[in-house]
Amino acid sequence: MSLKSTNPTKTNSWNKLRNHFNDIKDIHIDTMFTDDIDRAEKFSVSWKYFYFDFSKNKINSETITLFNDLLIEIDFKSSIEKYFSGEKINSTESRAVLHTALRASENQKILVNKKDIIPEIKSVKEKMKLFTASVLNGNYKGFKGDKITDVVNIGIGGSDLGPSMVVESLSHYKTDLNTYFISNVDGDHLNEVLSKVNPETTIFIIVSKTFTTIETLTNANSVRSWFLKSASENDISKHFIAVSSNVEKAIEYGISSENIFPMWDWVGGRFSLWSSVGLSISLSIGYEKFHELLEGARNMDLHFRNNEFSENIPVLMACLSLWYNNFFNYQTHAIIPYSENLKSFSKYLQQASMESNGKQTDRSDNLIDYETGQIIWGQTGTNAQHSFFQLLHQGSKVIPSDFIGFNNSIKGNKVHHDILMANFFAQTKALMKGTRGEEVKTNHKLFKGDRPTNTILISKLTPASLGSLIAMYEHKIFTLGVIWNIFSFDQFGVELGKKLAKNILKDLKNKDFRDHDSSTKNLLNRYSSTD
Ligand code: F6P
Repeated sequence: MSLKSTNPTKTNSWNKLRNHFNDIKDIHIDTMFTDDIDRAEKFSVSWKYFYFDFSKNKINSETITLFNDLLIEIDFKSSIEKYFSGEKINSTESRAVLHTALRASENQKILVNKKDIIPEIKSVKEKMKLFTASVLNGNYKGFKGDKITDVVNIGIGGSDLGPSMVVESLSHYKTDLNTYFISNVDGDHLNEVLSKVNPETTIFIIVSKTFTTIETLTNANSVRSWFLKSASENDISKHFIAVSSNVEKAIEYGISSENIFPMWDWVGGRFSLWSSVGLSISLSIGYEKFHELLEGARNMDLHFRNNEFSENIPVLMACLSLWYNNFFNYQTHAIIPYSENLKSFSKYLQQASMESNGKQTDRSDNLIDYETGQIIWGQTGTNAQHSFFQLLHQGSKVIPSDFIGFNNSIKGNKVHHDILMANFFAQTKALMKGTRGEEVKTNHKLFKGDRPTNTILISKLTPASLGSLIAMYEHKIFTLGVIWNIFSFDQFGVELGKKLAKNILKDLKNKDFRDHDSSTKNLLNRYSSTD
């Protein structure tokens, strides 16, 4: 059964939220703190290794009550159940959405088309575990009999962003293997990666859910040609692995069936790092740590599925984003992790959020007349402080932001960590308070404050806490999509550009640009005349 279709802006609760917005919009957040000494306690959630402080937002208890009413009015609880139990909530593609099943307990039963999918998930995980162990212990050998030293993941979008972000974020658990990622169809980058690896000791994982993506297949073909300069066709089976839900296409491409790690159509590309798409993660940090990542995500799944909305971190985050996006008209949202390990985290979230919720059509196929998908961007602190924080503090735009920080550093460098975290705490305070109560001689030195932030304070960056963090955002994205009354799990918006690129490639070969508009024609003429 599909998700219900309700225009959120036509609900009673939305109306009440609109009135409430008018009452609250001009109250400075700092005033809310002076008026309520329990504010920090009231607007925070302590959960396992997370402390989520959302008190520095333009909200009061009534805001939370009204959002709770909205969620009840749209029957959000039933949407959560449909999501977890494998109903085909990706209606436009007639698919279930079950990345949560990949980290579910093995004792659970989850049915897709009346078949329990847990045994299949278990057997693919077992295959990943055995493969990882044999590569790491040296039993798996390259075509000259050497131990494998390098792994190259060839994939794009969800087949790259999740695994590469996790491998980078958890680099402190790195095994002996070096892991590289080739995503863009940029030959210069491909050559740079290949210049670093030895064909005799490298395995290439071609990751493509569909096994039709032009960038990935072009890169895979080039890598194969490069490999065959030093090896024979027979050696391909030792060095080329595929991860795909399109097993037939992978076999057609020339990957031997035992080298194919399957995935399923009920795993969306941008939510697939928990599946065999995470093979590079498993090789890079070991299967045990990969498993801990999944467990961390499962803990967050349980929190999301079972907790009251008012104490539910992903739900609260979604409501806050909706509050700013749809009532205050703030269009963007920044993600600022205070850890260099998380430097690709906002890039990862861009796909997860914007490919999911960048939609213009509601669940009844009507074009929407309210704002959906926020623009997600970010950078690590403190680097970001020396770059775009000027705009955050004094710009004419307000940018709600998530500050993600850790109680403990990875390697225990307390001196640096205290400086890092002093900045972390100072920034959210400055953004909220500004220079209120201080004498400011010129407006150039005025900080108005009143800039909303969430603080996510986590005990340490481990596979488990990272798993929880990623799952937290996944569920936030889901919640927003349900309230916006859109389908979050398709991505038709990427198709037109792909189709036009195919035509243009053909036109470039024929040097025939007659059918294009004058701008595109001019550009193509210029490009082709520099051949
Ligand atoms: O073009 C967008 C997209 O379909 C993403 O949704 C997906 O993650 C990416 O391309 C890669 O797709 P595939 O894994 O099928 O190669």
